Amino acid sequence: MRRFLIAGNWKMNTNSESAKSLASDVAAGAGNHTEKVCVLLCPPFPYLALAKEAVNGTDVKIGAQDVYFESPGAFTGEVSVDMLSDVGCFATIIGHSERRHVLGEDDVTINKKVKAALAGGLGAVLCVGELLEERDAGNTETVLDTQMAGGLVDITSEQMEKIVIAYEPVWAIGTGKVATPDQAESVHAHLRNWLESRYNSDVAESTRILYGGSVKANNARTLLEQQNVDGALVGGASLKADSFVPIIEAAADLSTS
Ligand code: PGA
Repeated sequence: MRRFLIAGNWKMNTNSESAKSLASDVAAGAGNHTEKVCVLLCPPFPYLALAKEAVNGTDVKIGAQDVYFESPGAFTGEVSVDMLSDVGCFATIIGHSERRHVLGEDDVTINKKVKAALAGGLGAVLCVGELLEERDAGNTETVLDTQMAGGLVDITSEQMEKIVIAYEPVWAIGTGKVATPDQAESVHAHLRNWLESRYNSDVAESTRILYGGSVKANNARTLLEQQNVDGALVGGASLKADSFVPIIEAAADLSTS
């Protein structure tokens, strides 16, 4: 049985004061829902340690939004897996569409990051998603297959235990245009089939596939109700406890155990 994972991607938002209060407000609001639902908060690098401190003693986990694949050394501006572990990160997002399309990351780089994260004991939330023109041209599945294959080169079925897939249609990110539950379910089912053919049915059944793209308190439930939607990667609505905690509550409500 896959446990829901609700992850907050704060992107390049917050400051030390708001990061601290947001993390502690979410931890307080999540309360005992964390028995049923995994909660992961991904603040910007400078605030990871203080967010970690703010959630100490709770089950809320902290993750990064990106990582570099090299070991510590002469890589100006980059942050290593060791550093993320050192400040208490549990996982990192990798291959977010803003990294792909604004910062120019390709599947080869993304795969190096996935491998480095796993080798260093961090979990990875690997993001995939198609552009609107790719969807309109009927290429959604081909684009996703390429991103999945590229991001997961050399990743074994054992290592898949530390990987979560996040399906984030680029046209739905930060736009208020959420995928319909049917659109999300159809892509998630496709991704699960892909996992089955690339790995096996155990990996396909146990890997969580999150939906991301304009998830809000008022649409979370219908998305999370879909059979193959195992959680959400939330941007805008993760910046206030008032809008994020209800998404955790919706997941808790839908959890059977
Ligand atoms: P959004 O962002 O919820 O603001 O659409 C989601 C994401 O980019 O992870």
